[in-house]
Amino acid sequence: MSLLKVARLGHPVLRDIAKPIPVREIPGSQIQRLIDNMIETMREYEGAGLAAPQVHESLQIAVIDVLEYPLKTKLNPTPLTVLINPSLTVLSERLDEDWEGCLSIPDMRGLVPRYQKIKVQAYDQSGNLLDFKAQGLQARVIQHEYDHLIGKVFPERMRSLESLCYLKEFSKYWKKQNKD
Ligand code: NI
Repeated sequence: MSLLKVARLGHPVLRDIAKPIPVREIPGSQIQRLIDNMIETMREYEGAGLAAPQVHESLQIAVIDVLEYPLKTKLNPTPLTVLINPSLTVLSERLDEDWEGCLSIPDMRGLVPRYQKIKVQAYDQSGNLLDFKAQGLQARVIQHEYDHLIGKVFPERMRSLESLCYLKEFSKYWKKQNKD
């Protein structure tokens, strides 16, 4: 496995609509290697998720590892999730606002509203169909990564850019106030 270079804001690949992967190609070594390297890269840079366009591959793959997620459900027992060709359905119109960051926008944070509950359909790394419900932080990260597959980044989802800040200032002025 090897670490992949992460595209930063301004690289056109982050604005492309990622291509779906034919299901028969999922077991192939090229896709498997890409997924393994994406997981390694996400962990190295301590991201909660990573989408293929962020590593210069305009393909519909996202890896998600929400370590803090407290509720492991029967439908989704593992923290590490690989989503290929995902589609999302909003289950509740309720929006929660919370802080997000992005490996493509290093050292910045902003308050982003996301749907609280979603249904996720996708293929996993073995090509099996996944169909599960997600909520809270997990739903947030999935929506963030899904956005990367349609050429969007989190500042565009913010209600206002007023909360956009550098990580250092976030830690100093905002982090504690946000803890519930
Ligand atoms: Ni991101």
